[in-house]
Amino acid sequence: MMVACYFWCVLQLVVLGLVASEDPYRYFNWNITYGDIYPLGLKQQGILINGQFPGPEIYSVTNDNLIINVYNNLPEPFLLSWNGIQQRRNSFQDGVYGTTCPIPPGKNYTYKLQVKDQIGSFFYFPSLAFHKAAGGFGAIKILSRPRIPVPFPDPSGDFSVLIGDWYNINHKTLKAVLDYGHKLPFPQALLINGRANATSFTVEQGKTYRLRISNVGLQNTLNFRIQGHKMKLVEVEGIHTVQTTYSSIDVHVGQSYSVLVTADQPAQDYYIAVSTRFTKKLLTTTAILHYSNSQRSVSGPIPSGPTAQFDWSLNQAQSIRTNLTASGPRPNPQGSYHYGLINISRTIILESSASQVQRKQRYAVNSVSFIPTDTPLKLADYFKIGGVFQVGSIPDMPSRKPMYLDTSVMGADFRAFVEIVFQNRESIVQSWHIDGYSFWVVGMDGGVWTPASRNQYNLRDAVYRCTTQVYPKSWTAIYMALDNVGMWNVRSEFWARQYLGQQFYMRVYSPVGSIRDEYLIPDNALLCGKAAGRTTKSP
Ligand SMILES: *[C@@H]1O[C@H](CO)[C@@H](O)[C@H](O)[C@H]1NC(C)=O
Ligand SMILES: *[C@@H]1O[C@H](CO)[C@@H](O)[C@H](O)[C@H]1NC(C)=O
Ligand SMILES: *[C@@H]1O[C@H](CO)[C@@H](O)[C@H](O)[C@H]1NC(C)=O
Ligand SMILES: *[C@@H]1O[C@H](CO)[C@@H](O)[C@H](O)[C@H]1NC(C)=O
Ligand SMILES: *[C@@H]1O[C@H](CO)[C@@H](O)[C@H](O)[C@H]1NC(C)=O
Repeated sequence: MMVACYFWCVLQLVVLGLVASEDPYRYFNWNITYGDIYPLGLKQQGILINGQFPGPEIYSVTNDNLIINVYNNLPEPFLLSWNGIQQRRNSFQDGVYGTTCPIPPGKNYTYKLQVKDQIGSFFYFPSLAFHKAAGGFGAIKILSRPRIPVPFPDPSGDFSVLIGDWYNINHKTLKAVLDYGHKLPFPQALLINGRANATSFTVEQGKTYRLRISNVGLQNTLNFRIQGHKMKLVEVEGIHTVQTTYSSIDVHVGQSYSVLVTADQPAQDYYIAVSTRFTKKLLTTTAILHYSNSQRSVSGPIPSGPTAQFDWSLNQAQSIRTNLTASGPRPNPQGSYHYGLINISRTIILESSASQVQRKQRYAVNSVSFIPTDTPLKLADYFKIGGVFQVGSIPDMPSRKPMYLDTSVMGADFRAFVEIVFQNRESIVQSWHIDGYSFWVVGMDGGVWTPASRNQYNLRDAVYRCTTQVYPKSWTAIYMALDNVGMWNVRSEFWARQYLGQQFYMRVYSPVGSIRDEYLIPDNALLCGKAAGRTTKSP
């Protein structure tokens, strides 16, 4: 009786969360090297993580602590960043140039990340020196905690599918092309999990699988589809969606989608196809959906993607909505935060542009083309080192000035609720990402945004994500609750544009200076530039 009660009482305490137990830890040791890869069949230099291209998958559960010790064995500085991991109160670990010192060659740095209150599908990538064109990226999965309901049955398998455009040109050559002031050329091919026309996913007939598709490429929107099979969309960058069935999905660069696919067709092999969208030249790559009891290899034509252009894609984007009654990372429904009822404290309009500055190709936001400094902005801010950046060096609205270079930082108040309009006057599809946050994509449409565009906002069940596309000569509007203090990168995911200045930092500031709002600098933080020689130890 005693024993039973003891067991039962402890169980109850655990269930009620009354036993102070620390969130679990997962440890990773990663060795970053250059090595030979053969994505298109021919030898190329790639960036490997523990010998792998793409890098190892990170499997985690909500609130896990991820301790990732990265040994840089490249002959040059290196950093990893974490697309979609919110780094709550901890922009120090974000792994982009404005927050974190590069890991010097031959040295290591241990990231201590917590996937606090997150679920879903994301990826990591190398953020410096155009390394992303050589690999070093991989998938991140965050599963729900065991007692939190998930709005679909447990799938029989959970595959990461990293798709992206690829160059057979060495990334250092691509970087040199950009450094000389030229545009990035068109890619040679597309890859699915690091291979063209060579990856295979094995499924059992009758079972249902989850595919987590992330576009880890450099610039192109890709369409994803499976011969003879439908896809049920269930998750977008950490939100459970209304479960709509699609026969193909447009994945813009930097975005992630989870779909369920049921192996409900005759036992054979089927094409998985990925192709470029909105390009003059069409690139296509395939993989194989292999039924374990397959009677036949792939046959028939490779399924073709939508030929309709932007309207099809815009309609699909507008159909993606949050399932308000499903749980997210917590047991309460995702719809319990009524974002549509909150008053906006500030409207920011961000207009991107492409132009030459001093006869070199550059890209800008509100006419400012970002240039990095020798000191990460977050460290300059933390140690109060002057002369590195100025808050307010990018305006809230398009200025119509000729493009100019600056280390652009926008100031913002902790707890403000902002509306951001991405205005695209160019003829390409843009993709915007904000570190440290997810945001509600309340509207997108053709033309120029005006205050009257608010009448068509979805203030009920807009999707809540961290990367959004903006169609050519169109706008996309987002709402964002500034609940995460720090220095956060706002960037184009079109990688040449990011590299040549289409990014800035948003400094979300609280005057209180409490560790309830922002952690202290990590003890092991690398210090560089004007922060070299400072101390990270708290007094
Ligand atoms: C990393 O890989 C390189 C090359 O294979 C090897 O020389 C080195 O010892 C490895 N370092 C660690 C920490 O495993
Ligand atoms: C490098 O790795 C060692 C363990 O091998 C660890 O103790 C140390 O903190 C790491 N360095 C940094 C800067 O994180
Ligand atoms: C939304 O989630 C709920 C709760 O899990 C589920 O019962 C319902 O089928 C979902 N609705 C749609 C349209 O996906
Ligand atoms: C992969 O297959 C597609 C479709 O057959 C073809 O167009 C493409 O050139 C192939 N890619 C490579 C790198 O072989
Ligand atoms: C929003 O603003 C309106 C008009 O100023 C005001 O009546 C309302 O109470 C505000 N709502 C919230 C949630 O602050």
